Amino acid sequence: MSSASADSRRPVQTQCTGCPTASIPAAMPPSVLGYVQGGCGDEHTQRWNADAFARWGMVPRMLVDAGKRDLSVRVLGMDLASPLFMAPIGVTGLCTQDGHGDLAAARASAVTGVPLAISTLSNDPVEQVAAACGTTPAMFQLYCPRDEELAASLVSRAERAGAKALVVTLDTWVTGWRPRDLNVANFPQLRGHVLTNYFTDPVFRSRLAKPPEEDPRAAIGAWAATFGRVLTWADLPWLRSLTSLPLVLKGICHPDDAARAIDGGADAIYVSNHGGRQANGGVAAIDCLAKVAPVCGDVPVFFDSGVRSGTDVVKAVALGASLVGVGRPYSYGLALGGADGAAHVLRCLLAEADLLMAVNGWPTLADVREAGAVRV
Ligand code: FNR
Repeated sequence: MSSASADSRRPVQTQCTGCPTASIPAAMPPSVLGYVQGGCGDEHTQRWNADAFARWGMVPRMLVDAGKRDLSVRVLGMDLASPLFMAPIGVTGLCTQDGHGDLAAARASAVTGVPLAISTLSNDPVEQVAAACGTTPAMFQLYCPRDEELAASLVSRAERAGAKALVVTLDTWVTGWRPRDLNVANFPQLRGHVLTNYFTDPVFRSRLAKPPEEDPRAAIGAWAATFGRVLTWADLPWLRSLTSLPLVLKGICHPDDAARAIDGGADAIYVSNHGGRQANGGVAAIDCLAKVAPVCGDVPVFFDSGVRSGTDVVKAVALGASLVGVGRPYSYGLALGGADGAAHVLRCLLAEADLLMAVNGWPTLADVREAGAVRV
């Protein structure tokens, strides 16, 4: 199995068991594969997210005892063994053959200690997914619905389920132009997939004439009508008021937005361009991180988009990330081997990161940060 993505032009990085990414199409139905692998427009940004890591280099230090490494971090009250986390992926549920990929991802989180950001769009309810994460802290990602009471209900359910942070995704109130899906008229949600958090929600159900089990079409229509509240700065106090959990704003790419979000009460900034699925803008997320992190001061910075190796994880830390998210690669792990497959991908990333820190003479993440990364 490989922890490299099938969508990157970069060569596979961690073929530790000799299972090539070519196996992925056999493990995922074409509609799911297209949805996961695909991105916006001609997918330039998606490719560039991964490729741009090659433009950042790190310089090793010698005669340092890095015989023992400490990758642990404390972020937003979560004590974690490493800075790696699983980014929220809305079709995780469909990535395993049994349709319970969210639970499999949670089990991978439980056995590796790598936290999962549980997507709003899941096949199993947040209560069950959070429980399957075991003692590993979990976060809940909110796609903010137009219906304010529904938003509050989803957030309070996540809170009661034990989520340790609320990640609000800002960049997806409308879906980007995704030719792979458009060409085959594929949008899993409109086929009734991954809507369990809505269909099990008392507020959502109260809005329907008949329960989703009796009239799934109407329920899907109600979902489509409420998905995607257009959030603006004016909504920030309301978002803040929804929860006492730490509030993480996902999709920030501009330093000015980061500064304003922090002023508005965000507890963490999440630099991401949604893996190139939303805007095909051409600037790699890792380059955005390099500009955003310096304005965040002590406020934690989450990062994802394009992470394909342990080296990428270390580079992101060197450029100021407190936590580094991996997206598509763990979905491929789920497709190929369920919870074990995803755990294998995560362990490959961690092992490579750990080994890199050893050979580069950086025993701690503070050393990584101090060393930094240079544009090459
Ligand atoms: C995503 N992403 C995403 N983000 C989010 O906030 N909520 C979600 O439900 C989803 N769903 C989703 C589905 C699929 C199939 C993908 C590939 C991505 C974006 C995700 O959290 C993350 O930003 C990217 O996946 C990071 O890029 P890479 O690592 O996949 O290139």
